[in-house]
This record gives sequence, structure tokens and C-alpha cells, in this order.
Amino acid sequence: MNVYEAVASRRAVRRFSDEPVPAEALERVLTAAQRAPSGGNLQPWHCYVLTGSSLAELKKRTAERLAAGDPGDPREFEMYPPALGSPYHERRAAAAERRYAALGVAREDERGRREAVAANWDCFGAPAALFCYVPRDFGSAQWVDIGLYLQTLMLLLRAEGLHSCPQMAWSVYRRTVAEVVSPPDDLVLFCGVSIGYEDTTTEPVRTTRASLAETTTFLD
Ligand SMILES: Cc1cc2nc3c(=O)[nH]c(=O)nc-3n(C[C@H](O)[C@H](O)[C@H](O)COP(=O)(O)O)c2cc1C
Repeated sequence: MNVYEAVASRRAVRRFSDEPVPAEALERVLTAAQRAPSGGNLQPWHCYVLTGSSLAELKKRTAERLAAGDPGDPREFEMYPPALGSPYHERRAAAAERRYAALGVAREDERGRREAVAANWDCFGAPAALFCYVPRDFGSAQWVDIGLYLQTLMLLLRAEGLHSCPQMAWSVYRRTVAEVVSPPDDLVLFCGVSIGYEDTTTEPVRTTRASLAETTTFLD
């Protein structure tokens, strides 16, 4: 698989099969992802990889909180600006619309939408997940480094025939993640990444993208 193919075939997959992820494949990907660039070569990513009983324990504890109607932990960062203007609001709405349409969940079906969101905390059925932390006192430049690392990781997963879904949603139940992985206090959870083989029994959801002209200006 070349880089174009990896970029084109990476999607946020939200339905995984329960086929286990080979430990050697995970190790190959994580070793190669260490080559991701970072400002000053700080390499500020701190990752915990959960499979087997540790992931089962996390899913179980989170499901208990969800079942109890627990709204989650105090947020450590804003996932989105409070007022999302145009064109960002429209892009986000269009992606959500496609996703719910594919699931057969209507706009007014609040319960269906809640259940779709709750699937985040089951890692969409994935048998492996990575939780990525960044030092608490690091700023936006280092958070960008985390993004570069995560995209490198997700493209490498494609080379192994694996799929992924990055999930800031895990920051909602960050204390439960912390109970399982015991990170040092000076780290902030940025997101989880569900990892596995796609359940191919349903049609994949394809998000759209803005045209190049909308985002990029060429100056000769
Ligand atoms: C940093 C980050 C956090 C995300 N968090 C979530 C999440 O919590 N739950 C989810 O279902 N998708 C999440 N996504 C996936 C995005 O919704 C998805 O990447 C976007 O809609 C584009 O679709 P595509 O990845 O399929 O191309 C996240 C993506 C990124 C990059």
C-alpha cells in the first residue's frame, strides 16, 4: 500500500469485528510511528495500549457509568469552540448527518443518537485501543505534534490492513481511563484511538471534504 492509498482508505471506522489485532502488528506500527515529526523533536506523546482484559475492564467500568446516567468528568479542554461559525458548523453537521443516515437514526430520534454516541465508549467493538496523553503544561504547538503522531499511526495501521477511529469522546470519561492506565498526574488525555479490523457487513460511511480552492491559495 502506498501513502496515497493509505491516506485515501483511512476513515473513522465505527464498526469493528472482534478479530484480535496481532500483537506483532501493533508493535510494528507503534515502533514505526515513533518516526513522527515534532517541534524540537520533543516527541510529547505518551501512549497506553489496551487489549484483552484491560480493555474489557475499561469498557465495563465506563458502561456502568453510562448506565447510571453519569454525565462524565470535568473537561480538561474544549473539544470545539463554543460558537462554531461557518463553514465549520455546516461541515460538522454534514458529517453527523451522513453518519446517522447510515445508521438509520432519524434527526428527532434522540435515543438513537444517544446510543450512537455511547458506542464510543465500547470502542465501537474494537479489540484494541490506544490512549494518547500530552504533558499538562505543554501548549498548542505540542498538541499539533500529537496530531501528527496520531495520523502517522493511523496511516501505518492501514498498511497492516487495520482500521482506526480517533476519539476525543474518551476525555468525557477520562477518570475511568486513568483508573485503568494509571498515568502520572502531569499528563492530560487528548484522545483514544480504537483499533481493529473493520466489520465489513455494513456499508462504510464516507465523509466529504471541502474543495482545494476552499482551503488553499496558490501564489505564483
Ligand atoms: C482528534 C479527533 C477526535 C475525534 N473524536 C471522535 C470521537 O470522539 N468520536 C467519533 O466517533 N469520531 C471522532 N473523530 C472522527 C471524526 O469525526 C472524523 O475523522 C471526521 O468526521 C472525518 O471523517 P473520516 O475520518 O471518516 O474521514 C475524531 C477525529 C479526530 C481527528
